[in-house]
Amino acid sequence: MSYDRSVSAANHDLLAESVWSFQMPRVRFGAGAVEELGSQLRDLGVDDDATGLLVTDPTLADVGHAERVAEALAEADYDADRYDECEREPSVAAIDRCVEFVRDEAGEDGYDFYVGVGGGSVMDTAKATRAVVANGGEPLDYIAEPTGRGEAVTESGAPLVLLPTTAGTGSEISPLAILSVPSEETKEGISSHHVRADAAVLDPTLTTTLPAEQTAKTAMDALGHAIEGFTTHEFDSMLRPEDAADRPVYAGRTPVTELFSREAITLLSSNVRKAVHNGDDLAARTNMLRGALFGAIAGLTAGANLAHAMAYPVGNRYHTYHGETIGVLTPASTLGYNAASDPDRYAEIASLLGVETAGMSNRAAADAAKEQYVRLQQDLNVLPSGLAELAGIDEDDIGWLASRTVETQQRLLRCNPRPVTEADAYDVFEDALYNW
Ligand SMILES: [Fe+2]
Repeated sequence: MSYDRSVSAANHDLLAESVWSFQMPRVRFGAGAVEELGSQLRDLGVDDDATGLLVTDPTLADVGHAERVAEALAEADYDADRYDECEREPSVAAIDRCVEFVRDEAGEDGYDFYVGVGGGSVMDTAKATRAVVANGGEPLDYIAEPTGRGEAVTESGAPLVLLPTTAGTGSEISPLAILSVPSEETKEGISSHHVRADAAVLDPTLTTTLPAEQTAKTAMDALGHAIEGFTTHEFDSMLRPEDAADRPVYAGRTPVTELFSREAITLLSSNVRKAVHNGDDLAARTNMLRGALFGAIAGLTAGANLAHAMAYPVGNRYHTYHGETIGVLTPASTLGYNAASDPDRYAEIASLLGVETAGMSNRAAADAAKEQYVRLQQDLNVLPSGLAELAGIDEDDIGWLASRTVETQQRLLRCNPRPVTEADAYDVFEDALYNW
């Protein structure tokens, strides 16, 4: 087949990508979905006499969500051990500990099924643990070189069901588990379609206990996925791998992700104020969870880009929450630096964010998108105004952050709609010191 589209690449034998695919866990969504967990496991072929592992953290045990999930398992006559020592933003050592727990309690082959209930950190712990148990070895074996050993995850392992308690990370459907590697001062992903959960059970009643500050932070992550997924490269501007198995999990935006990102931007931006200021508003919580799911289908299928690439070095050095870091970086990066790549698309983002764009030039509308986003953050009243307030970051710190972004985040930067040099990253970090 000939394909005469021009693609810039070192290897001129490769053709432009012409195939896209779409992979998702099975999804159940709605109030009361937790009580269908047993039915979900049976749909996945888990036998009556199976013993599983419930992965969670101490906070979720305290507010009763872990208990509710345990009861749903018991109602369905499933036995399950519990591991509730997940760490926030888990390190490779945290995964080692969970893997050791599994091998000690259930043997080398692990449990018959896994259930993770919590935020992104818990869900990533469950995903990474199952992957390591199924494939052997330790987490670093499956992290890309040079940080890890770059081995492929080839086995999915026993069925895994994830139940998110925040409307944010999208880990319940994403093909990766993000881990920190403290010795390298970086965050990396174990990335494979085999890492993805088999089912996601999204019940908005699990999210109503989340405090205002956490609600706002996780919402910024979700909105980041939606906007980044909407602006990342199209799949056919990537290169087609010689072997389809080598197609990256972040393969560019597709006709499917486009649909979900538009809806996600609207749902999240029009419900986040209500969810933050009145956490018991179940309709707003439902819309946020739906928006976060749709944003994840967009950004975590197509590929997140610049704000996420810049957020990992920040989070790793300063131990900031992922969502608030994304919120601080988005105006300067995704909505600032990247806007020149496609002003028409950015004008559409302005409109999706609720800006009345009639009569505006596309350039003016793109600028208005950034202003509208900053105004939204100000309205939430719990988010930092920039990198300076986030972690006391100043001009002296951003050289290191810029070099780490370019050195360690090519997985994300390859999807970015504008090329990013270290000097560009420096300028964007500088711009993000103060958003207001
Ligand atoms: Fe994220």
